[in-house]
Amino acid sequence: MKFPIHIERTEVSHLHEVDFSQLQFGKWYSDHMFVAEWRHGRWVDCHIIPFGNLPFSPASSALHYGQIIFEGMKAYRSPEGEPLLFRPEMNRCRFNLSAARMAMPQVPEALWHDALHELIWLDRAWIPSQQGASLYVRPFMFATDRFIGIRPTEYFKFIIITSPAGLYYARPVKVLTMEKYVRAFPGGTGYAKAAGNYGATMLPLREALQHGYDQVLWLDGIEHRYIQEIGTMNVFFVIDDVVITPELDGTILEGVTRDSLIQLLKLKGLRIEERKVSIDEIIDAGERQRLQDAFGSGTAASVVAIAEIMHRGRQIPLPPVEERRWWKELKAELEGIKYGTRPDPFGWRVPVRSRLLSVAMN
Ligand code: COI
Repeated sequence: MKFPIHIERTEVSHLHEVDFSQLQFGKWYSDHMFVAEWRHGRWVDCHIIPFGNLPFSPASSALHYGQIIFEGMKAYRSPEGEPLLFRPEMNRCRFNLSAARMAMPQVPEALWHDALHELIWLDRAWIPSQQGASLYVRPFMFATDRFIGIRPTEYFKFIIITSPAGLYYARPVKVLTMEKYVRAFPGGTGYAKAAGNYGATMLPLREALQHGYDQVLWLDGIEHRYIQEIGTMNVFFVIDDVVITPELDGTILEGVTRDSLIQLLKLKGLRIEERKVSIDEIIDAGERQRLQDAFGSGTAASVVAIAEIMHRGRQIPLPPVEERRWWKELKAELEGIKYGTRPDPFGWRVPVRSRLLSVAMN
């Protein structure tokens, strides 16, 4: 192994405390976590240790200036009980894109691969087997320099925790636009999975929830006209049998689910356009009954129908969710690939394998 990993197993497993029939998102954490340190220009001290609190200085620069990035991935259990990852290399590339934007070190393929595979293999009993549930995998990195001046930092922790999770959204979502706030603008960090992008949306999200909406449908930061994303998800619309999603212009996240849906649609020979989408175009299509579907896509959320879109106090007309087939069919197809119940024409499924631990499956 290029990055030797030391494994310290927990003495007490918490697996029996979890009610796998009542999983929620982010409530439970599996027994172990991976931790590595960046010191003097190299990744060192790679450990898998029992999940728990970590000591670090209150002067750590991440706490003061938000130099933190993260990823979201999922591990699934196939019908044969085999642990599977979905396109983990795409998450690594995006993690490194986020790292570059935030002046943080890159995570090499060998470190990402070995950390993920050894951790998930060790905690494979935590992967739920029921449809819709999975082991959510959260890699993240933050600056640990003990220094409260502002300067590019030199010390980091790279950590992976995992969490058995149910659906992020248990039902179709209601979204509203907000012109008072913006999420991203050209030259900013919109395309990065930087923690601050999410922290800055807590207040708008609270206001959306107070008005009975689940999320904000973000518009561009300059004209407040072009649709960006939903914060937890990318967004798709279907107008006259053409699937349309906002282009990657540097202000939105390049979702793994977004990319997978685009490739699935192309394989099926359906029309998919990645381009600028204005809220006026969606209103117009809705009013003329040409808007056939609207849905969000994300790792945590999977594919979820948008039940309502509110803009400037007016609801955009959409067909009832039960009558829409696009989101449902795409979700079924993608989940079939992820859970190993449908063929995988793209080679996206990656079986989890351990080099350090016994390869015999329980
Ligand atoms: C994901 O879909 O994995 C995300 O990171 C979105 C959200 C939970 C913040």
